[in-house]
Formats: sequence, structure tokens, C-alpha cells
Amino acid sequence: MLQLKNVTKLFNPSTVNEKIALVDVNLHLHPGDFVTVIGSNGAGKSTLMNIISGVMKSDAGEVSIDGNSIGHLPEFRRSRWIGRVFQDPMAGTAPHMTIEENLAMAYRRGQARGLSIGVTADKRKMFREQIERLGIGLDNRLKAKVGTLSGGERQALSLLMATFTKPKILLLDEHTAALDPARAELITRLTDEIVRELKLTTLMVTHNMEQAIRLGNRLIMMDKGRIILDFDKERKQHLTVEELLGEFERISGHKLSDERLVLG
Ligand SMILES: Nc1ncnc2c1ncn2[C@@H]1O[C@H](COP(=O)(O)OP(=O)(O)OP(=O)(O)O)[C@@H](O)[C@H]1O
Ligand SMILES: [Mg+2]
Repeated sequence: MLQLKNVTKLFNPSTVNEKIALVDVNLHLHPGDFVTVIGSNGAGKSTLMNIISGVMKSDAGEVSIDGNSIGHLPEFRRSRWIGRVFQDPMAGTAPHMTIEENLAMAYRRGQARGLSIGVTADKRKMFREQIERLGIGLDNRLKAKVGTLSGGERQALSLLMATFTKPKILLLDEHTAALDPARAELITRLTDEIVRELKLTTLMVTHNMEQAIRLGNRLIMMDKGRIILDFDKERKQHLTVEELLGEFERISGHKLSDERLVLG
């Protein structure tokens, strides 16, 4: 499925501001893997996602999907295969467009080029069904401008838009971090439901340790641009937050420092 081989990324190379964001990262995701990702601020988590989605290119190494190298492809060429939800609820949707126009845009992304952007009756029905499944009452607001939705509602819509064309890879970058606890829990539950139902291969960065353990079938930990730990389902199953943080400290030699850290 997704494979990263010896991926390295430096910012501002050969200057006083040189920053090593990723060092020789190797990662192989199997189809349907739901991987939670934790690590200190600046560990390289977002950079990893940016390199997979094509927002930036790596300096060395290779990224491939199903054995095909995609490292040379620009972001828009990868967007058919890669769905993404960001931390900022404003980032994934267009505020001046209606809910159904946003959905039509996301739907079109997953299709061959040249399809009309118009919302036909068939599509409207399909969008309504999809929105209904979120169970948060947006189904009667298809014509509402997305800018009028709450942060939680926008994030639910972003999640739907990122997933309803069944991408090969779903990238979630702390997508609940900007929400209040109740809304964050709702988005987490929806994420878990959608990922399991569609069997999406997913990388989810989270600052919530309990979530990192509870969700998915695999957990990776990053520190200073490296993957320092990779727990499989069995190892994760009986893990406690204390053990997880203890392991991090043992391997990295320092405490996990994440300004948004939530233990559970
Ligand atoms: N565009 C950029 N220009 C220069 N340095 C950058 C850039 N983007 C990231 N970095 C640096 O690369 C390193 C990795 O950053 P990244 O955003 O990937 O970390 P992160 O693990 O997502 O952290 P956080 O938990 O704070 O979101 C950091 O030292 C960061 O300052
Ligand atoms: Mg980040």
C-alpha cells in the first residue's frame, strides 16, 4: 500500500536555520492499517503528512502507493488517492460555498476530469444520504453556506469530504485538536466509524494518548524526525498511557513534550 523508503527532509539546508525535519524514515502501511501517530512538537509528524500528500517534496528517499512511485507528482495529482483533514476546521472547506457545493467539489476530486460541477438531483440525493449518516442534523442544511457552520460541524464535513470517494490513504493531522472536548469526541467517533466501515488505510496524528492507544491497529511514535517506535495491535491492546510515555522516555532519552498533550 503506502511505502516510504529512507525519506529525509531538511529545511533551509546549509544555513544557520537548517532544520532536520525527517531523517531516513521508513514506513510501510498495509491495506486497512489504521495507524495513530504521536510525538513531541517539531518531531516531523506534519512534515511526514506533507510529503505523503505532495505539499512538499522530500530531499531524499521514495514515496510509493501500491508499488508506484508518487514522489514526483504534484499535490493535485495525488488528491484522487489521498484524503486529508487538517487541525484547522477552516482549512478543509470553502466557507462561501454551500454544503452541497463543497461536497460536489470533493466528489469531483475523486473522479475523472471533465465532470460538471453542477449538483444534479441524483448527486443531491447521494450527498443528503452521506450527510445524514453523520447524524448531526446537517442534512436539512445542504444549501447553507459552510461559513455558517460551527467548528465541529465543519470538521465533520471535512471528514466526510476527505473520505467519501474512498481514498487509498487518509491523513488526519490532529484534526480534533481545535475543538472542545465534546465536539472532539464526536469527530473521533465519526472518524473511527468511517475508517472502519470503508477500511481506509489511515495515518492519524493525535496529541491524545488515550486515543492513540484505543484507536486503530498500530501506533507509531516520532522523535526528532525519526520513527522511534512501532507498536502492532497485540502490543497496543493492553498498553497504558503510563507505559506508552515510559517507553517514549526510555527510547528517546527525554519526556514527550507536546504543548497540546492530553493523557486521556
Ligand atoms: N516550512 C518550514 N520551514 C522551516 N522549518 C520547518 C517548516 N515546516 C516545519 N519545519 C520544522 O521542521 C520540524 C518538524 O516540524 P513538523 O511541523 O513536521 O512537526 P510536528 O511533529 O508536526 O509538530 P507539532 O506537534 O508541533 O505539530 C520542526 O523543527 C519545524 O520547526
Ligand atoms: Mg504538526
